[in-house]
Amino acid sequence: MHISELDTPALLVDLDVMERNLQRVADYARSHQLRLRPHTKTHKIPALGRRQLDSGAVGLTVAKVGEAEVMLGAEPPDMLVAYPVIGRQKLERLMEVARRTEMTVALDSFEAASQLSSAAQAAGLKINVLAEMDVGMGRVGVRPGPELLELGRAIDSLAPLRLRGIAFYPGHIRGNDDGARQALAELSATVRGAVEDFRRAGLATHVVSGGSTPTLFHSHEIEGLNEIRPGTYIFNDRNTVACGACERRDCAVTILVTVVSTSRRNGLIIDGGSKTFSSDLLLPAGERTFGEILEAPRARFFQMNEEHGYVDLADSGASFRVGDRLRVLPNHVCVAMNLHEVVYGIRGEHVKQIWRVEGRGKLQ
Ligand SMILES: Cc1ncc(COP(=O)(O)O)c(C=O)c1O
Repeated sequence: MHISELDTPALLVDLDVMERNLQRVADYARSHQLRLRPHTKTHKIPALGRRQLDSGAVGLTVAKVGEAEVMLGAEPPDMLVAYPVIGRQKLERLMEVARRTEMTVALDSFEAASQLSSAAQAAGLKINVLAEMDVGMGRVGVRPGPELLELGRAIDSLAPLRLRGIAFYPGHIRGNDDGARQALAELSATVRGAVEDFRRAGLATHVVSGGSTPTLFHSHEIEGLNEIRPGTYIFNDRNTVACGACERRDCAVTILVTVVSTSRRNGLIIDGGSKTFSSDLLLPAGERTFGEILEAPRARFFQMNEEHGYVDLADSGASFRVGDRLRVLPNHVCVAMNLHEVVYGIRGEHVKQIWRVEGRGKLQ
């Protein structure tokens, strides 16, 4: 099928670019002896999880139990839930997943560990656990030092949990400037210190899991890190380009839209708004635009309602008519994927794959 036959809005995945991204990161991980455990929240499609495993990933990462259930479809040898699993309902479902694959959970509290331990005991299962430390993002994770050691010891004492090591997420580090380099050096010192603390205390450090797409190709500079969990790298997006972690040609996803109105002077309306792209802005708080129009890079996609995208063409040197189709590079591809029921894998101008985004909307 030619892409001109697709209805819009439609999310297109350039398969050549995606495959290149998968290969590059698998090669990087292999050459630095880092285990690759991609975060599947970016694509949410078991067939793509399978491809990641086939190209060298050792297992998969998810955020939610619902995503873990879906990703069993990729038949991963093991899975990491990189998010504290709290509450009876979720834990019961998690145990069902753990009957079908080796399961690891990253968590940051005694409460989370003790709930997980009770659920594992009731199910007669052993669950691996990583102690989550905060390396500066200020989201989840305890502080490295005595707090992390206390958490590690608590997990270690809670059979049938098996402490495997440490997890962290350096989501606050973006870019290649001096500030980012300094932050990476500090991160390396923090991780090294945490691993040494654990070793001295006789706690396990088999897994030291971190990594994001912006810091991806610096992972080998972080002392003690042995596992990386990038997610966005499979597709990349405008934010990945903006932080210098990839080039425009490494972005696999565009959203095909139709011009539905040109009634505004110097402007047009496309048939995708916040329900198609999400409202995520460029990071760090850059210009307020919601995507880049490939056919008119100087046009400004400056505003959205749910189903309307507002594009300013002044200074763009471009003009379009109702019915024209445009391709837009989204700011944040993970959230855009979550908004689409199906997505289309293309080679050149031809649709080669249609995937259902099975993990979309799995909030629980
Ligand atoms: C805990 C955790 N690990 C890994 C990732 C993957 O990061 P990225 O999408 O930058 O590759 C995320 C992304 O949000 C995350 O929250």
